[in-house]
Parts: sequence; structure tokens; C-alpha cells
Amino acid sequence: MSSSATAGARSYQNFVNGKWQGAISGKTFPVYDPSTEEIIAQVAAADGADVDRAVQAARAAFDSGPWPLATAQDRGRVLFKLAEKIRQNSAALAELECRNTGKPIVEAEYDIADVATCFEYYGGLATKVTGHVNPVPANALSFTLREPVGVAGQIIPWNYPLLMAAWKLAPAIAAGCTCVLKPAEQTPLTALECANYFEEAGLPPGVINIVNGFGETAGSALVAHPGVDKIAFTGSAAVGKIIVKSAADTLKRVTLELGGKSPNVFFADADWEAAVDGALFGVFINQGEVCSAGSRILVEKKIYSKFVEAMTEKAKRIKLGPPLERETKMGPLVSKEQYDRVSSYLEIGKKEAKTAIGGGRPKQIGKGYYLEPTIFYDVDNNARISREEIFGPVASVIPFEGEPDAIRIANDTPYGLAGAVWTRDIYKAFRVVKSLRAGIIWVNHMQPTYVEAPWGGYKQSGFGRELGPWGLEEYLETKQVFVNLDETPIGWY
Ligand code: NAI
Ligand code: MG
Repeated sequence: MSSSATAGARSYQNFVNGKWQGAISGKTFPVYDPSTEEIIAQVAAADGADVDRAVQAARAAFDSGPWPLATAQDRGRVLFKLAEKIRQNSAALAELECRNTGKPIVEAEYDIADVATCFEYYGGLATKVTGHVNPVPANALSFTLREPVGVAGQIIPWNYPLLMAAWKLAPAIAAGCTCVLKPAEQTPLTALECANYFEEAGLPPGVINIVNGFGETAGSALVAHPGVDKIAFTGSAAVGKIIVKSAADTLKRVTLELGGKSPNVFFADADWEAAVDGALFGVFINQGEVCSAGSRILVEKKIYSKFVEAMTEKAKRIKLGPPLERETKMGPLVSKEQYDRVSSYLEIGKKEAKTAIGGGRPKQIGKGYYLEPTIFYDVDNNARISREEIFGPVASVIPFEGEPDAIRIANDTPYGLAGAVWTRDIYKAFRVVKSLRAGIIWVNHMQPTYVEAPWGGYKQSGFGRELGPWGLEEYLETKQVFVNLDETPIGWY
């Protein structure tokens, strides 16, 4: 096991009960740099037997040993220490994240800083968990205890690998849970590097376990395992549905964050420069591999043609290139699979709508899963490129006529993760805010995300919330305690 985040192919095992362990089957799988298509690591491939071992370790660490005795202050200190280790190693972690995902290095640096902030936030929140005293009659006392939900199975995607791990691990640790984390098979490396910090941060063996592997083997085994109390998942709606069905057999608690087809709505009175920037940023940041991507750009007819033109002109200047170069604004997509998936939507889009810019592989680039930023316009909201999550640098620009039309189109989607509205009219802005059926709404911006504020979706974008106190709540049980203060026997029989 290598512990330094530098170049060269390395091998990683699963991290179970405080130790690195190969897969019981001996199998491994390759992890790639999507900008070179080269293998950068070999990773142990967990299946049901390895998941079982990890769940047993998490179960034992939850039920006995030092972790159940850790105070809220102890758990908070663990999280602060993890944050400190991450800040100390942030340059190496950002580089590794960049190489493994293909995201621009500058974005990877922001992600790693956000990871540390997330651990710090929940480090502070650990000591603010309190119960209630309930107003029952005077002859009794009733209060609530907040207790950890137990063993949490956490399944995460590849678009923000370490950040998604942090959003799930930090509140779980603050609550006193134990965890089995399954990173996405494409991008497990940064989470595995962080396992090197667990012991020094004061985490007893078995409190956080990391199993690597594929969804159909490792992921599904975690969801089905009777020793797991809760599943937290971020990924596709298709897999979210499979998870809910499988979790029903053991009635696990489930929280899901499933992406979307979020509307970014531009009225004619919006600040022009900010709006054009915001339309591009909303959909092209992180190569468009963002659950809250503003992939449906709704533009008022009065400004529609000029807006499409201005977006197109500006999109020409988006610098595609090697993710480790600081000027790069867009790297390759994460994998061959995602490149093929997005490419197939580009072909669909060319039939369904008009192409303003992009539509394929950039000419000047040799290796790597690069695709051009693509803007389709005159898109019908019923087109597949308006309804289905593409998860790549592909925008569908849709015209609308007036506020009711904008709201109707914006809400006409099976998803409800996010949305944004751009206008200088405060009345209109807040009417639209109240009308949109989605969990996160931005006004005159799109994408800023703070750990203090809740994150999650309406409709088929999932249920449950991450971040803030809401994120912690999902890892807590509520125990009601009734104390009888009346010494007379019940006298019923
Ligand atoms: P996915 O939903 O298949 O994978 C996400 C995670 O779920 C990975 O860790 C994967 O190993 C795991 N997984 C897959 N099948 C599973 C199963 N049967 N049981 C348990 N765990 C399972 O996403 P994928 O295939 O990488 O991407 C497909 C599409 O999903 C993307 O094009 C995008 O539209 C969407 N997506 C949405 C994300 C979001 O942030 N909401 C993140 C990643 C993908
Ligand atoms: Mg999949």
C-alpha cells in the first residue's frame, strides 16, 4: 500500500477493521486516468464475502469497544483531526482527484478544501445534538434521546469522489455511527488515501471501513446485508430504484440523491453579463458531470436569440485540456462508459434540436475522453435531451414566453433536485422560487453549495437531505423516554 499521492501505477486493497486487506477472491480491477486512458492503479475488487467482513467489523465497532463510549466531544475531535490531515495533504489529494476524475486541478483544489470544511462543520455539530423534554402531564416526565442509527452503508458516485465521501462520513461519525463506504469503481483513490489518516485521527478499527468494487457486486451486497441499518446513496435514479426495492427486504432506512434535469431560468430583465456566465457555469462546470447541472436553460423569447448567440461566443473560449494545467476549464469525462453515454446523447440531440456549438470530440485532442461543450437550442421540453439526465457538457436551451410559461416548463420534469432564476425583479424572483418544485433554488447564481445549508431533491431526485443539521438528522434515531412520577399502582385489573 502506497501512502503518497504521487504519479505512477499503485495498488490498493480494501480497508477493513483498521487494516488493508486484499479481496477474498484475490480479484482486482484497474483504475484509469481519463485524460491519458492509462491505468493508474489496481484496486482489490470486493464482493459479497468482503462486504460481509466489513459489515461485521462495523457492527462489532458499533456494538462494543471504545467507539460506543466516545463522547460527542471525542467524535468532534476525530473530525477536526481528519480535517487537519486533509488540509496538510490537500495538494497531493487534489492532484490525485484531478488525475482520477479528469476534473480541472483548480476545481479539484476547491473540492478538497470543501472536504476539510465538511469535516470541520460536523466536528462542531457533534456537540450540539440534543433531545427534547416533551410536555406530558405533570405526573410524568418524557424526554427524547438522540442515538446513532447504527451501521451506515454509504454508496457514492465518481463526480466529486472525496467530497461525496465527506458528505456521508462526517455526519455519520458526528452521530456515533460506524460506516462501510463503497466508493465509485471509477474513482476510489482519494478516499483510500484518507484511510491512512484514520488511526492518527483517533478512529478505532472498524468505525470506517472502505470496500472497493462494482455496484452489482459490492454495492448490492451492502444494500442487502442485514447487518446494515441505513443506506445513503448518491447516483443514478435507475440504481436508486433498485436500492429502494432491495432495502425493503430488511426495511433499512434509505436516503437518496439522484441527480436531475434542473432548469436555469433567464428573464429578459436579468443582468446580461452575469446571466450569460451563469448559464455556462451552471451546465459546464466539472464537465457537466454535476447532479444539479443547469442542463435545461430556459430563456425568455425577448432575449432568446441574442442569448444563445452570446452563450455560444463565450463557450468558444472554454479551454479544454489536460486537467493538471491550471488554465484548463474543462477536462475529459470520467470514463469510456460516460464518454460513450454522453456521445450517444449528442447524436440524439443533433436530431432533436439545432446545434449552436460542439456536438462531438474536440479536433485538436488525441487521447482522453474529451467532448466539446455542446449547446443545443430550439429544444422542445419533451425531447429526450430535455428529459433525461445526460451528465456531461450538454445544454438544452428552451425558449419561453412570460412567467407562467417559464414555471410550467421548469416543473415539467420527473426530477426536482435544483433550479435557478435570473431576474432583477424581486417580486418575480420570489414568485418563481415558491413555484418551483425542487430542493435547491438559486437566485441570480447557480451551483454554490455550502455545508451549512441542506442539499437534496423533490420528486424522482430522491429523498432525505444532506449537509447542515439535516444531514446529521439522517444518521440519528429518536428514543422517547417516559418516566412515571406517580407512585400509585395502575389499578387497572
Ligand atoms: P450509478 O448510479 O450506476 O453509480 C453510482 C454508485 O452506485 C457507484 O458507486 C456504483 O458502483 C453504485 N451502484 C451501481 N449499481 C448498483 C447496485 N445495483 N446496487 C448498489 N450500488 C450500485 O451511476 P453510473 O453508472 O456511474 O452513471 C450513470 C448515470 O447516473 C450518469 O450518466 C448520471 O446520469 C447518473 N449519475 C448521477 C449522479 C449524481 O450525483 N446524482 C452521480 C453519478 C451518476
Ligand atoms: Mg451504473
